[in-house]
Amino acid sequence: MSDTPQTSETPERPSMSNGELFRRFGKLVWPFRWYLLPALLAMIVMASTGGAIAFLVQPILDKVFIEKDAFMLYAMPAIILGIFVIRGIAFFIQAYLMEYVGQKVVRGLQIRLYHHFLAFDAGFILSQSTGALISRITYDANLLKEAASSVVSNILREGFSVIFLVGVLFYRDVEMALIALVGLPVAGWLIYIFGRKMRRLSRLRQELMEGVTAHLEETISGVRIVQSFRMESRERARFRRITKDVLSNHLKVAKVRSISKPAIDIISGVVVGGVVLFAGQAVINGTTTTGTFFSFITALLMAYAPIKRLTGLNNLLQNSLAAAQRIFELLDRKPAIANTSRALPLLPLHNAIRFENVRFRYSDDLPWVLDDISLTVRAGERVAVVGKSGSGKSSLINLVPRFFDVTEGKITLDNIDIRKATLHSLRSQIAMVTQEVILFNDTVRHNIAYGPGYWSQKDLENASEAANALEFINDFPEGFDTVVGDRGIRLSGGQRQRLSIARSILKDAPILILDEATSSLDTESERVVQDALDHLMEGRTTLVIAHRLSTIQSADRIVVLKEGRIVEEGTHSHLLSLNGEYARLHRMQFREET
Ligand SMILES: Nc1ncnc2c1ncn2[C@@H]1O[C@H](COP(=O)(O)OP(=O)(O)OP(=O)(O)O)[C@@H](O)[C@H]1O
Ligand SMILES: [Mg+2]
Repeated sequence: MSDTPQTSETPERPSMSNGELFRRFGKLVWPFRWYLLPALLAMIVMASTGGAIAFLVQPILDKVFIEKDAFMLYAMPAIILGIFVIRGIAFFIQAYLMEYVGQKVVRGLQIRLYHHFLAFDAGFILSQSTGALISRITYDANLLKEAASSVVSNILREGFSVIFLVGVLFYRDVEMALIALVGLPVAGWLIYIFGRKMRRLSRLRQELMEGVTAHLEETISGVRIVQSFRMESRERARFRRITKDVLSNHLKVAKVRSISKPAIDIISGVVVGGVVLFAGQAVINGTTTTGTFFSFITALLMAYAPIKRLTGLNNLLQNSLAAAQRIFELLDRKPAIANTSRALPLLPLHNAIRFENVRFRYSDDLPWVLDDISLTVRAGERVAVVGKSGSGKSSLINLVPRFFDVTEGKITLDNIDIRKATLHSLRSQIAMVTQEVILFNDTVRHNIAYGPGYWSQKDLENASEAANALEFINDFPEGFDTVVGDRGIRLSGGQRQRLSIARSILKDAPILILDEATSSLDTESERVVQDALDHLMEGRTTLVIAHRLSTIQSADRIVVLKEGRIVEEGTHSHLLSLNGEYARLHRMQFREET
């Protein structure tokens, strides 16, 4: 499909061929082959009942109505009833089994996508909108389910029906059957054309749906910003614009769908008319019986109905294939940061973390964010990083847990390049407290005890106590079982930070990374949080960023970053005596505070 629009984030990837899509789709359903086989048999049975009914028209007409055969008068209704009962049972078996397989496949796919998301590097996730990623798991995966169950089963069933009915046509009259089938290639061609158009439209629709989810996600989670800036009407207008595109897409789809049915109808009208003309003459001339004629016409009419449905189904299938392609593209994307094949588990830090000539940029076309950074943090040391906003502090510390990888140079832990270590052993050594506290919509208890492991109530209380959080937790009517709301919305900023500190205390990792953990607080809550942080830092190797220089004066070493380079390094008093960048930052802040 060279005419399919490309998704924005994978411009370099060629679209998948239909063969490739079906092959991969086949791999998804292969584990369910023992469900699909009986479903397939049931479909064949179902389809054959259609042929049987058309076939019976001849004996009914010729024996019951024309020859007035009394035995046949009773036998035929019984046979017809039997056929319909079999048809019903077969329908149930195939419909349920196909739905079963479809739902199983979609859930498996959703789980795989989710696993994949959690393994993605921060760089990729940050480059995508959350809504767009969510829409892959919800909307696209469900479209694919349609392919797995209803569409495939219907296509097979209708396809088999056509085969049986065409069989009846040929059995009744070969010559006439050949005349009747001239319509088929035309119908096939139409099915193909409409299908191609549909695929293009549904690919576009999925992109539009991503836009809708992304917009909703952004503005609903940021509703307070929207309201406080009185942007409701702007956001409403944006939503109206996005949904207008979706609407126009839906209408185009409706047009294709509504045209495809009458188009096939007209073809079948021409064919049936022609057959009535020729076969009618044959009946009048006495070369064929009335029963054969009606049996033939019935089979013909019955064959065109499934052909018509096949057009519609092909359109749906194109929807699913477009969704499948987007999902497969995402699954094919390898996380940029992952264990190498020979990754080693790291032992707990005992020597030093070293940055060796590290250079870093977020992508090839962006400027360097960090340049020639060499820095040693010895085990047990407390090293502070300061610098103006945008100087690269957060970028620097995000390299340690490998949220991003260095572009040049390396970072080692006890002389092992962290890229050669397992992610698990690296990250389990590191506790992070960031300014933007991430809490989940769960209880205080589960937010603190987030991470693998079991903790007693006593452990939780000790950690909360050390984080200066126990008092306010106990003040909640439900204590540790209080639900904090989405992202901790029911807590104050300082309370949220203290919970995240308690979480890090509980994690008890040897390396601690703090990013501006106190910068958004007033002096009173800052003192409380700082006190909690001091508890947390005890006995750990710490890399800390603080905007308030007062909080890091006791650090063993202070590193001053300017435009991605280390310009000064030393203790507080040493740096002041240099009278350089640090002294300047210090003076500025001192002036602010007085
Ligand atoms: N995900 C990203 N993609 C591209 N550029 C980024 C990204 N994150 C940060 N940058 C850029 O990298 C530079 C350093 O950002 P960084 O967040 O490291 O600064 P910082 O020193 O932590 O600043 P602040 O004190 O304001 O937190 C900035 O110029 C910023 O624009
Ligand atoms: Mg920062």
